[in-house]
Amino acid sequence: MKPIQRHILFCDGSDCKKKGNKKAYKAMKKSLKDAKQPFARCSKTKCLGACKHAPVMVVYPDGVWYTGIKKDDVQRIVTEHIVNGNTEEDSVLHQMTVNA
Ligand code: FES
Repeated sequence: MKPIQRHILFCDGSDCKKKGNKKAYKAMKKSLKDAKQPFARCSKTKCLGACKHAPVMVVYPDGVWYTGIKKDDVQRIVTEHIVNGNTEEDSVLHQMTVNA
């Protein structure tokens, strides 16, 4: 297994499906490949429990939840977050924090 630096979990629950997650997921896979990000993995997951904000995805280990993800948002998120390491603030639903 290749090392993974970031794992993007794309919700594949029913509300996210209704709101077009499939196109966004495909765009994410393509954008990661185009951006030459072999250490970022994108996977579908069951409902993440934030259905009213669908489509939803989470980037780990950063713990950043993105909401309302559309196909056209994906390139910007890949460039800003995955490549440059900055949260793409316009689409953030929640950012997890860790108490030290
Ligand atoms: S269906 Fe996607 S968060 Fe519930």
